Amino acid sequence: MKDRHQHLPCFRRRLGLQGRLQCSKSELRQMRSSAFTDPVLKAYSRLAAKYDQRWSTYIDASVRETIRRIVVPADAVVLDVGCGTGALLKALSQAQPGLKLHGADPTPAMLAVAAKRLDDKASLHQAYAEALPFSDAFFDLVVSTSAFHFFRDPLKALAEMHRVLRPGGRIIVTDWCHDFLACRVCERVLRLTDRAHHRTYDSSECAALLTTAGFVDVNLERYKISWLWGLMTVSGRPK
Ligand SMILES: C[S@@+](CC[C@H](N)C(=O)[O-])C[C@H]1O[C@@H](n2cnc3c(N)ncnc32)[C@H](O)[C@@H]1O
Repeated sequence: MKDRHQHLPCFRRRLGLQGRLQCSKSELRQMRSSAFTDPVLKAYSRLAAKYDQRWSTYIDASVRETIRRIVVPADAVVLDVGCGTGALLKALSQAQPGLKLHGADPTPAMLAVAAKRLDDKASLHQAYAEALPFSDAFFDLVVSTSAFHFFRDPLKALAEMHRVLRPGGRIIVTDWCHDFLACRVCERVLRLTDRAHHRTYDSSECAALLTTAGFVDVNLERYKISWLWGLMTVSGRPK
C-alpha cells in the first residue's frame, strides 16, 4: 500500500507553497486532519484571498507600530508567529534586508498568500504557536501581531516562543486588547458569533502571562490606532 506521505509534494503544490515551506510529515498529517475540525483554519482558509484588502488599514497600522519597536542586529534571525499573509515579514525584509526571516502559521491558504508576497525572502512553516518546529535558542527575535487572541493555549505558545529564543533574544507581541471599551464590545460580539475567536486579554494580563512563561524585563504599551482598535505591544526577554 502507498504511504500517504508519498503524496506530500502534491499536497504542497496544491497549497502553492512549494517554495520555501518547511514542515515535517507528522506536522502536515496533523494539519490535514485539523483543516476539517479547527474553526481557525476554516475561517482563515475562507478569508485568505480577501484578508489583506479587507483589513488593510488595521494591518498597516499594527505592523507599523510593531516594527517601530523592533531593534535587532542587521543579520538577526527572526520568527513571526501567526504570520498570516506575511505583511510584517515583508515590511521587515524591506527595512532590514539582511535579516533571516521565518514565518509560522497553521493556515495553508494564508501561507500561500505570504509565499507569493515574500518570494524567497522568508522561510514559511505550517505550524501552531503551541508546537513550533524549531530547535531551542534558534531565534534572536520572536514577534507576533494580531494572532495571540487565537492561541488556544497561550501559556504553551509562550513557552514555545521562550524555548526557541536564544538567551538575550526578545519577544514582541502586538494584539488588540481588552483595555479599550470598543474592543471589549467587539470581543463580546465575536465570542457569540465567531467560533474561530478564542479570547482577548487586557495588557496587564498578557504581561503576566509572559512573566509566568519565564520572560523578564516585561514591558507593556497600549495605544489606539483608530476610534475602534486599541492595541497593546508586550515585550520581554527569556530568563
Ligand atoms: C488576524 S491574522 C494575523 C496575521 C498577521 N500576523 C497580520 O498581522 O496580518 C491571525 C493569524 O493567526 C493565525 N493563527 C491562529 N491560531 C494560531 C495558532 N494557534 N498559532 C499560530 N497562528 C495562529 C491564523 O491562521 C491567522 O493567519
